Order: sequence, then structure tokens, then C-alpha cells
Amino acid sequence: MPAKIVTLTLNPALDKSTEISHLVPEQKLRCGPLQLDAGGGGINVSKAIQRLGGKSLAVFPAGGHNGKVLCELLKKEGVKTNALPVPGETRENISVLESASNAQYRFTLPGLQISENQADECLDIIKKLKPDYLVASGSLAPGLPETYYEKVAVFAKDIGARFILDTSGAALQAAADEGLFLLKPNLAELSALAGVEKLEINEVDDAALKIIHEGKCEVVVVSLGPQGALLVTRDGFEHIPAPMVKKQSTVGAGDSMVAGMVWGLNEGKSFHEMAQIGVACGTAATMNHGTELFHAEDVWRLLEWIQKYGERYQIRDFGA
Ligand SMILES: Nc1ncnc2c1ncn2[C@@H]1O[C@H](COP(=O)(O)OP(=O)(O)OP(=O)(O)O)[C@@H](O)[C@H]1O
Ligand SMILES: [Mg+2]
Repeated sequence: MPAKIVTLTLNPALDKSTEISHLVPEQKLRCGPLQLDAGGGGINVSKAIQRLGGKSLAVFPAGGHNGKVLCELLKKEGVKTNALPVPGETRENISVLESASNAQYRFTLPGLQISENQADECLDIIKKLKPDYLVASGSLAPGLPETYYEKVAVFAKDIGARFILDTSGAALQAAADEGLFLLKPNLAELSALAGVEKLEINEVDDAALKIIHEGKCEVVVVSLGPQGALLVTRDGFEHIPAPMVKKQSTVGAGDSMVAGMVWGLNEGKSFHEMAQIGVACGTAATMNHGTELFHAEDVWRLLEWIQKYGERYQIRDFGA
């Protein structure tokens, strides 16, 4: 059976995390055990879909020993992969939790350089998979032009896949100019797309609607951190409040949200329910430490809350 959801990660990483009581300079620091995780936007989305009981296939370039470890880690989690072998070593990211302060230090190393031809080879792999949904998340690898996601947007149209993109800056702008299915910008990303320094909360719906009217996408889900999200379509907008939870770390909240939404769409859910599932997944991800995404049982509990009580906490006068 052809894969329904395919994720693309052009700048994957092997995430290494550990813990230390106090981070101090000069001294030898004795760290806790090393935890290895497969990382990178699209890969996180695939991992999160798996946790929801769904299926996807993760496509990414993989280099050297780290690339191999990345594939093994995903296999262990049951995530199907189709990695393009590339020369060089897939990057590592390092995060250190200082337990005394509960502060997390995240060191992100430069990504493995890949050529446009190699990225095109990833697209060739995807073409054969005939996905219904193509999700790209994260930054572009060094070596790729800033307009590369624009090419992916054209490609997605050619193969008849609905393209969902979660990235930022010039890469996002270029793809949006080409037009795609769904965008999930946060407030800063939406402001940049709208060409303004900072949008006020009451300008968010108009800015998102303008993007839709300009033909940049069909649906915008603006993620608003602890305030949840604003779903905007041609027909109007709806605020989905996020339940209050004890926040541990917001790492992976955006990818979890995207995963929930694409999973929901693939299950035939409406945009309304898609956005509710997205918020439930994003918020559930904040309940865990570090790079850990979410536990499915938290998602279903939070979703129930949103569906029962969300309306009470809705902001209805965004445009006021
Ligand atoms: N402090 C929080 N409390 C509750 N829910 C949160 C919080 N932060 C994020 N979320 C949930 O996660 C979703 C995505 O978060 P956010 O808007 O911060 O995305 P983002 O800026 O793209 O995140 P990322 O840094 O992962 O890219 C939100 O819509 C919300 O559901
Ligand atoms: Mg994000």
C-alpha cells in the first residue's frame, strides 16, 4: 500500500542529551547518562504520528555513523524510513539539562552540507511513494538555496500531494509565494510572512486571511504558544485554546502540533477537529522534559478537555 503521509527532513540531526547538576566553566563536568534521539523537524513529525498510532514514512539524507544511528533509532520506534545515503557525517545536536536550575542548554551544530542534486534525489524517492500528504519541517541544510522549499511546493503539486510546511524565514516566504496546502506559522513567522515586524494579537486573523486570499495556502493554523492556536480558512477563523498544563519544555511542541494535524487530516477529520488535535498534541508535548515529544494518553485527555470546555475559553473577537 502506498504511504499516505511522507515527511521530509533536509537537515536531520542526532540529538544527544544529558544532565548535570551545575554548569560551570573550566572544571571537568561529570554528566549523567547519554540519551540519543533521532531529530530534525520532519523526523519529529513522523515520530509523533507513530505515537498517535498512525503511519508515515520519513525521508531524509543520512551520512556516516550518525546517519546510521539515526536510522536505527527510528527503526526501534517503529518509524518507517527511506534514507538517502550521502557522504559526510549527519550533524549532532547536544542538549544539557542543568538540574539545579532546570535550565536546558541547547547546542545546535551546523547541518551536513548537501547538494541540490542530493535533495532532488530525496524528491525522487518521495515521488515513488505517491503520498497524499507531504510534510516538510525544519531548516534547509547548508548547501541548499533558500528557495528550495519553493521547488518542493511545485513538486508536491506535480505529484498531487497536499504540502504542509513548517519552517521560517526566507525558506518559508519562497514556498508560500509558490502556494501550498497548509501553513503552521507561529506569531513571529506569520509577522514575517505578512511583512511586518510584529503583529498584534487582534491583527492575526486578518494577516492569515490575507495570505489565503493571496493564494499562498488553503489553511493557516497560527500557533500561539500557551494561548493555543487560531485556525483560519477562507470561511472564517476559530480560536482553539490550549488547556493549562504544567509546562516542562516546549521543545518539539510545533512538530507535535503539525503531526497531530496531518494525522487528523489523514483520518478524515474536519479542519476544526484537525486544529483541536494539533493543539492537544502541542500542549501534551510541553508536559515532558527535553526532546521527549508527548504521551498519547495525554493527547486524548487534553483533546477531550478542548472538545468539552474549549468554547468557554475561546477568544472570539480577534479582529476587534
Ligand atoms: N506554554 C504552553 N502551554 C500550553 N501549550 C503550549 C505551550 N507552548 C506551546 N503549546 C502548544 O504547542 C503548540 C505549538 O507551540 P508554539 O506556538 O510555541 O509553536 P512553535 O513556536 O512553532 O514551536 P517550536 O519551537 O516547537 O517550533 C501551541 O499551539 C500549543 O498548543
Ligand atoms: Mg515552529
